[in-house]
Amino acid sequence: MALDGKAARIGILISGRGSNMIALADAAGDGRIPNAEIAAVISDQPNAAGLSKAKERGIETLVIERRGRARAEHDREIVAALKAREVDLVCLAGYMRVLSREFLDGYRGRILNIHPSLLPSFPGLDAQRQALEQGAKETGCTVHFVDKTLDGGPIIAQRVVPVYEGDTVESLSARVLVEEHKLYAEAVSLVLKSLVAR
Ligand code: GAR
Repeated sequence: MALDGKAARIGILISGRGSNMIALADAAGDGRIPNAEIAAVISDQPNAAGLSKAKERGIETLVIERRGRARAEHDREIVAALKAREVDLVCLAGYMRVLSREFLDGYRGRILNIHPSLLPSFPGLDAQRQALEQGAKETGCTVHFVDKTLDGGPIIAQRVVPVYEGDTVESLSARVLVEEHKLYAEAVSLVLKSLVAR
């Protein structure tokens, strides 16, 4: 499905702070992600700090909680909300849930995630803590397509970040986050270019 010259509509899923979401919104706003707009920000957490930041920028926000439902049912509601807003590309930005097959089928090859390590190293939770505990001299961040594996889908872009003596989880996370914000915008641009060319 090509985009046929129209602006790409990006849907962003968050669970918390939303700094990567803001980085994408800023990049779409200033043209670093050309011809794209943020169609909606969806959170599974009603108290996600990113929600108010998105609202301040005039972006539509939705809270779609799991509420004890099966993962597939929750995901169907999210996919329906994305489709209703004609979203072309889904970006997970600190969205802390594994997607069901229903979600993957709804947006096959059009779901991206950012992870704070050089995958396949340190998948899952606490990636920066894992890097410190392993004594890694370098870590970084990865943007990848989402598939049914945990942080295991095809890699789109990576950026290396040094680990320094005396680093804490906080200091390392902050250094990685600066690169995440740049890398995510670059990777989204790259993917949208390929969708336009298709
Ligand atoms: C980011 O560091 C992101 O890479 C990470 O959560 C943080 C969310 O921050 N995601 C994962 O660990 C996914 N496995 P943000 O809400 O400020 O973008």
